Amino acid sequence: MQIPDHIIDQVRQRTDIVEIIGESVALKKSGRSFVGLCPFHSDRKPSMNVSPDLQIFKCFSCGKGGNVFTFMTDFHRLTFLEALKALAAKAGIALPDEDKPHDESYNRVDSAYKALAAASQFYHDTLSKSSGKIALQYFTKRGFTRKLIDDFALGFSPESFTATLAELTKRGFSESVMNDAGLILKKEEPGSKPYDRFRGRAMFAIHDVSGRVVGFGARQMKDDGQAKYINSPQSLVYDKSKILYALFQAKQEIRSLQVAILVEGYADALTLHQAGFRNTVASSGTSLTKDQLQLLARYAKKMYIVYDADTAGINAASRGLELAVEEGFDVHIVQLPAGDDPDSFVKKNGADSFRIYLRDAKPFLDFKIDIMKANNLLESPVGKAEAIRSLVQIIAKVPDTLQHDFLMGRVSDRLDLSASQLRRIYEELTNVRRANTAKSSPKMGYTQQNVQQNVLQAESQSTHQTENQNVLPATSSPVSSDTALVTLAELAMSENLLPEEKSVLRIALTVSNALRYMVEQLKIEETLFYTEPARRIYSLAIDALNRGSQNIFSSLVANASISEEMMHIITDIAMQREMPSEKWLDFKIAVPEENARRVLTDSLMKMQIKSIDREKQVIQSQMKSVSQEESLPLLQRLIQITSQRKEILEKMGG
Ligand code: CTP
Ligand code: MN
Repeated sequence: MQIPDHIIDQVRQRTDIVEIIGESVALKKSGRSFVGLCPFHSDRKPSMNVSPDLQIFKCFSCGKGGNVFTFMTDFHRLTFLEALKALAAKAGIALPDEDKPHDESYNRVDSAYKALAAASQFYHDTLSKSSGKIALQYFTKRGFTRKLIDDFALGFSPESFTATLAELTKRGFSESVMNDAGLILKKEEPGSKPYDRFRGRAMFAIHDVSGRVVGFGARQMKDDGQAKYINSPQSLVYDKSKILYALFQAKQEIRSLQVAILVEGYADALTLHQAGFRNTVASSGTSLTKDQLQLLARYAKKMYIVYDADTAGINAASRGLELAVEEGFDVHIVQLPAGDDPDSFVKKNGADSFRIYLRDAKPFLDFKIDIMKANNLLESPVGKAEAIRSLVQIIAKVPDTLQHDFLMGRVSDRLDLSASQLRRIYEELTNVRRANTAKSSPKMGYTQQNVQQNVLQAESQSTHQTENQNVLPATSSPVSSDTALVTLAELAMSENLLPEEKSVLRIALTVSNALRYMVEQLKIEETLFYTEPARRIYSLAIDALNRGSQNIFSSLVANASISEEMMHIITDIAMQREMPSEKWLDFKIAVPEENARRVLTDSLMKMQIKSIDREKQVIQSQMKSVSQEESLPLLQRLIQITSQRKEILEKMGG
């Protein structure tokens, strides 16, 4: 089956390599990257580096590296198509079905996404028109900045029954697509006309984790007797139990802090983001589901639940925390003063006060016990027995059994109960549990055994490689009289690219538009590179550029015709360990243009100097063995390049 390039690109863009590798390898954050034990050789300390910025992995020990497709094909032993299918399914991207070239369900899903994206654009644009002024004022009054409004695609649905309908019709969407997308409604009676679902409301676009609009929350602007919020219905593309509001915008921060803040409302999430707590997500008024938690668990395993301080909020937090604990989260509960929700609290007291509340958040067990105490549940023997059982039940759900003893100790301290008594209850309950779960079937997916097999295969492969490497040099030892030239030639053939070459190539491959600038403005040709692999990489990069590639590095990594060794070098270059990492990081986030250009010109000048020096060396050795007449042009060239060298050095100094 031929899958169109744009779909492959889409899958790559919607896939997060850290997530995918993280499913098979335990990854820990280290700087801007993640590290883990390399599964492609027997690794004792974590040498595999996974870069969320570049979306590649690289083992600094065995050299293995590539993008998410490389990992899937090589680790899970899949063909490219199988890997693509697996990743597309995860990303929720429908691949064209080979049996059904005009697969209707594929088109319906795809069209619904497109309609939602168009509607979101329309609502967002309306904010900047006079008809949307009321909502813009509302958002501003709530303290949302323009950037927040843009980042979250906030908007306004015009006060009209036909505005969305007309706009989307104009953009080519049919009534049935708009209906699939949940944007319109129609009365049951025959002959009735469809009309806009969202009218005169502040619109909160709901994104899935990869940034597609899947639905809307719509808030009334004035109390008109209708519901404060109207939400998109469940649809082909929107399942509210599988979506966390603001996760798309928060995921990077959650991953880097390794903590998520969970709130209830859209407004709570937005106000916290605005106040700098960019690791906040919202459950949007529904009770937390297992799917939502599993989604969140990809990014962090620690969470603060901050619900309203009223009874409903406490109950919701209580339910949510049990599920979260069961999913392995380290759960803390923030209790705000009565009457406040996160939004109103931060507005009143500021971000610093909120930070203090986060710091003083209660571990889930203490929160549970406090609630029980507050409700006088521990007064009567019956109540106390019940309370203890329910606490032990929660403890037993913590997947990390090592924590059980510690948690039980906490309960026995706080409830004045002997450890042995508690232990008995625990054993009673867990035995029952074990008997119940023993019947359930094992989990699907990549099993431990599979992983081990893959590692073994990879290991045996890598031993073959080293054997080959041992054979090569002996058979290819060069014989020549001119030792100086031999060492030069050897250097040129070696895989040890010069540091400047690496810098230049790294910029060419990973900084957008840099290669075009080098080719068109600086007129850099591959001959400027000295080592063979550097030349080859540069010319492969130019090929990719000429084919219209936007991301040179990914297209190289996806290029199946590039040898494994070459791939090692390419990924090495992009994720160089020995590079001045701090500076590089600065330049990646701070002022990319200026710094990249500076590094580039520096490196290019060094390359030119070295190239001149090599030529000088060659000329000087040639001059020894030629006639006086023949040596004249050589001498002229020598003078010419010597003065070039001087000019370059002056430029570098200045
Ligand atoms: N909600 C809903 N439908 C309603 C009321 C609430 O879907 N009729 C959901 C929304 O996701 C809302 C969340 O429940 O954000 C929390 O409700 P609430 O606390 O009432 O709303 P706030 O987010 O505080 O809204 P606001 O501050 O705008 O009044
Ligand atoms: Mn509120």
